[in-house]
Amino acid sequence: SAAEKGGYDYFMLKEIAEQPKAVADTLLGRIDAAGSLTLDEVRISAAELREVDKVVIVACGTAFHAGLIAKYAIEHWTRIPCEVELASEFRYRDPILGPRSLVIAISQSGETMDTLMALRHAREQGSKVLAICNTNGSTIPRESDAVLYTHAGPEVAVASTKAFLTQLVACYLVALYLGQVRGTKWGDEISAVVRDLSHISGEVERVLETMEPVRALARSLADKKTVLFLGRHVGYPVALEGALKLKELAYMHAEGFAAGELKHGPIALIEEDLPVVVVVPSPRGRSVIHDKIVSNIQEIRARGARTIVIAEEGDEAVVPYADHLIRIPATPTLLQPLVATVPLQVFACELATARGNEVDQPRNLAKSVTVE
Ligand code: AGP
Repeated sequence: SAAEKGGYDYFMLKEIAEQPKAVADTLLGRIDAAGSLTLDEVRISAAELREVDKVVIVACGTAFHAGLIAKYAIEHWTRIPCEVELASEFRYRDPILGPRSLVIAISQSGETMDTLMALRHAREQGSKVLAICNTNGSTIPRESDAVLYTHAGPEVAVASTKAFLTQLVACYLVALYLGQVRGTKWGDEISAVVRDLSHISGEVERVLETMEPVRALARSLADKKTVLFLGRHVGYPVALEGALKLKELAYMHAEGFAAGELKHGPIALIEEDLPVVVVVPSPRGRSVIHDKIVSNIQEIRARGARTIVIAEEGDEAVVPYADHLIRIPATPTLLQPLVATVPLQVFACELATARGNEVDQPRNLAKSVTVE
């Protein structure tokens, strides 16, 4: 009913708007006044966490994209090797697991059969399983050794939005917590990240306030057949997520690529007026990949692409090559997906509406996939 949608036309719009609160709620009570993490609810002892020699993340769809981003954070902050695998592929390839492997299963619903089967397989090998889940008491957390709940509130639209942002927050918390418990790299950088994380909900709010041009752009592209997405570093999984949103909502052909792969094939797809969304890393800190992606934008534009550039405020280098420029607030590199994903959600939702599609219930899809 209209009341359930809180005045929005679709649950998806409501859930996109709820993201600042979802992010804040997922952090609530988990960072103390001194900036340390208090994740006692994660019932895996500090001693056991210190023994972990490998992290393996399993998930499907959007939750898998959260896992891909988590890998960058976990490896950077903890120096523990981290693999990310589609849950549906995991147990069929005889993965190497043992008692010192920490398996993280990410699932909004907690009922995704592929993810459940992957975690059962991991537990049979003696690994500890930590669930990151949005649904209290669902099957995946019940069958895991421990759970860190995301506090997104119920997500009704089939296309995942607020759950994704909270999955990212939960992954960052786990990564930072592992760093804290193990004493690795816990220092100025980590405390700065914790501080930035506590401001991020306000940044998401600011992005939401500037989405009108993104909606207008989406409407102008309603007749297109294909949209490509490029990203690098954590922007690569963001590109994959942008493409998935467009597939499931707009029923358009959409693909995400790592920008560095362009020359290895995808650049052959570029033709006159093809919309290409590029997620640009921060020019601060990792300036090498920033500069490389700016040359990618130049290259595809020279071949006729219509460039839709998502770049940090103050990044002037992209301006000459952006047919459309979407600004996002400056964040630390690893946290950028929390703000960069939002315009892509809005873009897909508006395109779906412009194409007359059912936003909350896209064809052929179910909210949770409880069969393999
Ligand atoms: C997201 O927009 C999709 N509808 C889908 O990929 C989803 O993320 C996936 O099925 C995993 O669901 P879960 O998080 O409930 O396990």
